[in-house]
Amino acid sequence: MLELRAVSKHFGRDAKGVKAVKAVEEVSLSLGQGVVGLIGHNGAGKSTLMGMIATLMRPSAGQILFDGADIVKKPDAIRRRLGYLPQDFGVYPNLSALEFMQYFAALKGVRDHARIRRLLELVNLHDQAHRPAASFSGGMKRRLGIAQALLNDPDILVVDEPTAGLDPEERLRFRNLLSELGFGKLVLLSTHIVSDVESIATELAIMRFGRLVAHETPDAVLRRARGQVWAASVPEADYAALRERVHVLQAQRQEGRMLLRIAHPELPCPGAVDAEPSLEEALMAQRYALQAEAA
Ligand SMILES: Nc1ncnc2c1ncn2[C@@H]1O[C@H](COP(=O)(O)OP(=O)(O)OP(=O)(O)O)[C@@H](O)[C@H]1O
Ligand SMILES: [Mg+2]
Repeated sequence: MLELRAVSKHFGRDAKGVKAVKAVEEVSLSLGQGVVGLIGHNGAGKSTLMGMIATLMRPSAGQILFDGADIVKKPDAIRRRLGYLPQDFGVYPNLSALEFMQYFAALKGVRDHARIRRLLELVNLHDQAHRPAASFSGGMKRRLGIAQALLNDPDILVVDEPTAGLDPEERLRFRNLLSELGFGKLVLLSTHIVSDVESIATELAIMRFGRLVAHETPDAVLRRARGQVWAASVPEADYAALRERVHVLQAQRQEGRMLLRIAHPELPCPGAVDAEPSLEEALMAQRYALQAEAA
């Protein structure tokens, strides 16, 4: 359905006219249906990749095909079927939430006005529909942005950090919304909060410094981390020496001891037990293993 072939995006030029920042570097990726979690550090290239898929930016090299058609040459085909929430989504100062939705509905050619109300309910903003959107909290603006992205009932939903700033209750609501939407559609979602995609992502795409370093199921990541994540309880006095040797994922002080979660390729200390890793721990363990390999 969506195919990226060696897609690169370079920004700026240095004194010799050579393009400088390699925001995205030769990313090849085939995506069908489901919820794909796009994960990577700050500056990894997630937003740039999403902007190219949303046809707001052209690749410097490579091709993006949607149902076989090149989206750079024919952007309209994907635009009609796309919902996009940019990372820096803003609202217009004078419009209420309802007017804002009506405005975008008109731009997108959506005439079903009952849908606007349903979407505002879906993101839990129906009680606030007549308030100026500019007066909303950050999380509420984000929710309006999510509603806006769903207006045209998209087949591809590209959401850039949709859960940033959402409180736990809204985050849960949003997760459920996405897994319901995921049937028969492609949802591409970027996040730093791995636990946000842990329960809903059918695939993970992991970026580092512009490159795609992994595309696999969360299960595969978890399987690989077996035997790499440990739980241990050590006397406080031993902690300083231990953390010099191993990667501590989590530390909690309790009655003179430290309760630890540790990423290490073998038994990190006497008495440690092999632990069931969370997805976040598994990804950290994977990163440390790669770093150790590279060193
Ligand atoms: N318009 C631009 N001009 C120049 N450099 C840019 C531009 N947009 C992005 N970059 C650079 O490209 C790289 C990738 O940025 P991008 O925003 O895609 O990362 P990201 O993974 O979305 O990061 P974050 O997690 O902080 O949102 C960064 O080094 C960034 O500074
Ligand atoms: Mg970003």
